Amino acid sequence: MDSDRSPVSLRVNGHTVEVPADGRSLLDVLREDLGLTGAKDGCSPQGQCGCCTVLVDGAPRVACVTPVRRVQGREITTVEGLDADVAADWAQAFCAVGASQCGFCTPGIVMRLEGQHPTECAPALLGHLCRCTGWQTIGEAWELRSAAQTASKAGRDLAKASARATIEGGVGQMIDPSIVLGGGGGFAADTAPAGALRAVSDGAGNWVVATTLAEARRVAAKTQGRRTTLPPGWPLEIPEGDWLVRLQTTWVEPAYLETDASWCLPGGEPSSPVGNGGAFGAKALSGPTRSPVMEAARHLADLHGVPVLASLSREDSVRLGPKRPPVAAGVDANGNGLFRVVATPGIVAAIASVAPGLTIEQVVVPGPPTSAAIRGAGWVEAAVLMAAATALRRSHVRGDSVTVRAPNGAEASAVFDQTAGSIVVEVSCGDPLDIVMLRSYCIGAAHMAYSWVTSESLAVDPAGQPNDLTIRSFGIVRAIDMPNVEVSVRNDTTTPINGSDAVFAAVAAAVWLEAGLVPRWPTSDKISS
Ligand code: FES
Ligand code: FES
Repeated sequence: MDSDRSPVSLRVNGHTVEVPADGRSLLDVLREDLGLTGAKDGCSPQGQCGCCTVLVDGAPRVACVTPVRRVQGREITTVEGLDADVAADWAQAFCAVGASQCGFCTPGIVMRLEGQHPTECAPALLGHLCRCTGWQTIGEAWELRSAAQTASKAGRDLAKASARATIEGGVGQMIDPSIVLGGGGGFAADTAPAGALRAVSDGAGNWVVATTLAEARRVAAKTQGRRTTLPPGWPLEIPEGDWLVRLQTTWVEPAYLETDASWCLPGGEPSSPVGNGGAFGAKALSGPTRSPVMEAARHLADLHGVPVLASLSREDSVRLGPKRPPVAAGVDANGNGLFRVVATPGIVAAIASVAPGLTIEQVVVPGPPTSAAIRGAGWVEAAVLMAAATALRRSHVRGDSVTVRAPNGAEASAVFDQTAGSIVVEVSCGDPLDIVMLRSYCIGAAHMAYSWVTSESLAVDPAGQPNDLTIRSFGIVRAIDMPNVEVSVRNDTTTPINGSDAVFAAVAAAVWLEAGLVPRWPTSDKISS
């Protein structure tokens, strides 16, 4: 706590403001006191996701680890304070190439690129995370903007782009320039009524309420999460057998950027924590893995008789949120095999939908909650295993593509050429509706698959508690380490269906083949910060 309690004076978007010297971060002050919600909170106070990036005297800085007293007298520019033409150019550039999906990470990235004027985009993104786009289209938006090209909207219907995004993301999702600039995404933490009380989990099943987020965290005695020294573990084993191919996966963190938040008026219904997609099935609105923030917001608003915004810290979202169930599986030369999976409602049907010949065993292990709703859970692992076995039986050689047919009928083929640093993808998923957005989702799926197979893990201790609690702990592949992804879409006029999940599976299989079918994922050391 500051010893000098005189107010802090700073310039924000051209206006002088005075705020209390109460030890809060610049991010908290911008969002809570000034109502500037363009800078997002994806991991505060970890300072690792970049979502809260603003300009301080013109230079990009993460606001969540910047105490407001440190910027006394400085000039702060948030995404809302960008020159209108500059902002419009960025928004058009991002929309033109599909560089923003859920949009939660996007305003921070715009501020980084605008403030840093990099000569290369990927290195400039080292301080940022995007879980949706797979980075490549962000580089394309930067190139478009750097070349001062006018982002053409000709022939583009953003309603169709939003429809394609909704199919791919599995929840209502809007594609719009306003989301690039930090508004319109419907994120609960942005739309809560001014002055709503803040509620945070104390990690022991209780909620603490205060007038500011910082105060609630202080009372809840929240300490910042750490990256563990615990190595990843593989909770399931496959017995010895005449296996042609074996696969063991570990725990992985969905790591959606918008942590769970919900607000509620007294006597009202809580808002959804799924703002504009981006969680790929990992944020549950109902069922056993339902996000706890909705019930907390409702209960606390009724209890206190005022609006309450309940939110999870990054650490709590890792501790409490559902994970993809780990598997251990083997398939023999005849295509028969055994598939063990961490017990999860609905997972057996998902696996059987693509591999009816496998014997499926559910196993109860200590660990975080699991969900079959997470992107392709179960069926993707089974499809990858079967595709690998088929490839081996056909004497697959480098450069051959691997094809996966998803349970919904979508089909995708992929080739990964490690030497060339390229992933080539072809997808068939009905009427594309909007090629730009479909391509963006396919690139994002390719990144998620590549990252999962080669790099990602979440350390879980013997008692079943996740130990990696920072967003940089999970090994998400960075922009500078991501192969180039080339996407082609097969001509199709049938009903549009999700295609990126098939791409996710096909790329996972192609990357695994290129990695020599090493039985344990991740196949190499984590690539993270
Ligand atoms: S919220 Fe500041 S870096 Fe993540
Ligand atoms: S668009 Fe980047 S996290 Fe969703």
